[in-house]
Amino acid sequence: MTIEHTDRSTDVVEHPEQFTNPGLPPHRPRLGDEDPKANKLSERIVLAIFTVSVLASIASIVGYFAIPVDPEAGSMGNTRLSTIVIGVGLGLGMLGIGVAAIHWAKSLMNDHDKVEERHEIAGDEETRGTAVEMFNEGVRDASIARRPLLKGAVGGALALAPLPFLVPLIGNLGGDWDVSRFKRTAWAPGDNGDRVYLATDPTNRRIKAAEVTVGSLFHVMPWNLPEHPNYLDEKAKAVVLLVRLDPQDLKETEERASWSYDGIVAYSKICTHVGCPVALYERETHHLLCPCHQSTFDVTDEAKVVFGPAGRALPQLPIDVDENGYLVAQRDFDEPIGPSFWERER
Ligand code: FES
Repeated sequence: MTIEHTDRSTDVVEHPEQFTNPGLPPHRPRLGDEDPKANKLSERIVLAIFTVSVLASIASIVGYFAIPVDPEAGSMGNTRLSTIVIGVGLGLGMLGIGVAAIHWAKSLMNDHDKVEERHEIAGDEETRGTAVEMFNEGVRDASIARRPLLKGAVGGALALAPLPFLVPLIGNLGGDWDVSRFKRTAWAPGDNGDRVYLATDPTNRRIKAAEVTVGSLFHVMPWNLPEHPNYLDEKAKAVVLLVRLDPQDLKETEERASWSYDGIVAYSKICTHVGCPVALYERETHHLLCPCHQSTFDVTDEAKVVFGPAGRALPQLPIDVDENGYLVAQRDFDEPIGPSFWERER
């Protein structure tokens, strides 16, 4: 390849690996650099976006308190609305800060190119002094001191942005921690002594022992639980997994020998680590897996923990069949469901 020599400057190309420094393209001023009105408009736009961020963060916090999730209503309507308002407010609050900062940088900050020559990584005294001077110049370029309104807006947006995260957290920490609620579930027989049928979740259909084939897994809740005035709270505690094994695979203690029916066993679905729903069943190994932190429970061995951070086995629901072959709970769980820390008094 032929390299053309040029007489444009003293940087004449003499070796293939050398080239003329093209330099920086000429600086093109933005509209706002020359027109004070355009500059003011840009400032107002940045201000407006920060204001949207502030309002969105406030809306998120207000939504948390104004739209209480009411499990007694028996519907997910409020839960969805609350989640949407908190989520949209939180998202807009963060997005507003990002968009406003970008617009501010592009339209109001100094846009002159700066060239940093290569140098040793460890700077000498003079370089470090230059860096400090450049930083201070950057702060001056951000023109925050000259724009008190923007200063207030950015301060307000940054101060409010963490609150949508913190308020629900603090609110929930101060919630109702009556641990006795975890010691009783909707599987307890009614006042008249009627035992509770096992039903499919969410279709609320009673389950016959004959339809639970070996290797199958059923998600189960107490029959007619959707009619309970406190449906969601009760369901959160009472959900159960039903599995049928070859009875010879079951390692049952004498005490629990009567808790299963012909190889069918029922365990609480609430992980004993921190309460995620255990929903994965490995048919080959007979292991139940919690997707949150991989706690693994052995269904053949009273759902004891074989891996992961869970501290104790899944509580077992003693079951039986009625005269028509429907599965029914003998009584409530013998121990509190869920993480062990729920059992602690505060
Ligand atoms: S909640 Fe199940 S392993 Fe953590």
